[in-house]
Amino acid sequence: ADALKIGVAGLGTVGASLVRIVQERQEMLATTCGRAIEIVAVAARDRNRDRGVDLSKAAWHEDAIALALEADIDVFVELMGGAGDPAYASVKAALNRGIHVVTANKALLSAHGIELAGIAEERGALLNYEAAVAGGIPVIKALRESMTGNTISRVYGIMNGTCNYILTQMEKEGLSFGDCLKEAQRLGYAEADPAFDIEGNDTAHKLSILTSLAFGTAIAADDIYLEGITNISIEDIHAAADLGYRIKLLGVAQRTESGIEQRVHPTMVPYDSVIAQVDGVTNAVAIESDILGELLMVGPGAGGNATASAVLGDIADIAKSRPGAQHVPAFGRPATALLPYKRARMR
Ligand code: HSE
Repeated sequence: ADALKIGVAGLGTVGASLVRIVQERQEMLATTCGRAIEIVAVAARDRNRDRGVDLSKAAWHEDAIALALEADIDVFVELMGGAGDPAYASVKAALNRGIHVVTANKALLSAHGIELAGIAEERGALLNYEAAVAGGIPVIKALRESMTGNTISRVYGIMNGTCNYILTQMEKEGLSFGDCLKEAQRLGYAEADPAFDIEGNDTAHKLSILTSLAFGTAIAADDIYLEGITNISIEDIHAAADLGYRIKLLGVAQRTESGIEQRVHPTMVPYDSVIAQVDGVTNAVAIESDILGELLMVGPGAGGNATASAVLGDIADIAKSRPGAQHVPAFGRPATALLPYKRARMR
């Protein structure tokens, strides 16, 4: 089969990791995917920045939208982030051309996921987004594929590596909130605007995606009760420890009698629970359902390699898909009611 031609928009931490991995593992990928994977075009702002990868064979675009509109590619990989343009316009442009899209952009999907899934379906393209939630943990696959037929009662977890890293480092190293955040930024975990991490918005974006998949709801981050970790002090962490708890920023979505409740807030979890032991940038996602029971997945939630690993898995799925095949829609049609956050019952 012909090589699968990839265009990558965004060469930050994740984009650079992806390019490096694809280049270093060419033979292995060709064998596992049944065809070569080639990055033929890239788009990023600064052409001269040293990213430690060889981009000499890829066509360079300054503008991601131009890449999505014009490049001769089979897959458009969006790694720029942000709910607005150029991410939104470029993903839409690619899908409208019938080009498959892989994105790690939770903010984009949280705002426009159902619309983009509709375009993808109409044009016979795939919209894959495993990397958008909990980095390398295959939670999207679990909900969309592995758990087919299950009725889900609750989804919850630690979905922001930056916050979990900060809470862990404050407790274990006695460092200040600000120093921990700076280190998380240096390590490439934080969002471009780290307020999205520490104020809980990033967790809310991810939770809204999982809620929609798990319960068949609209994707509605605005309906989530939201509280970040900015008010958590080292004293709070120690006081919780004295009582036998650790503080984790959790996203929780669960079925109630009146609708689906979603919330994001710092939560005291018993010290001897598995989730309390999830440290640093690691994420954890738990899914409770009627056939399978309780599933708990723990793994790397942020950073270049973990996220690129999930992006690569999505690319491999496209490489292996049959041309013209009927694809499972990226999101279902919203059919279940969500509780607006004001009515959400807190506990
Ligand atoms: N800033 C995010 C985090 C990146 O810290 O988890 C992964 O989505």
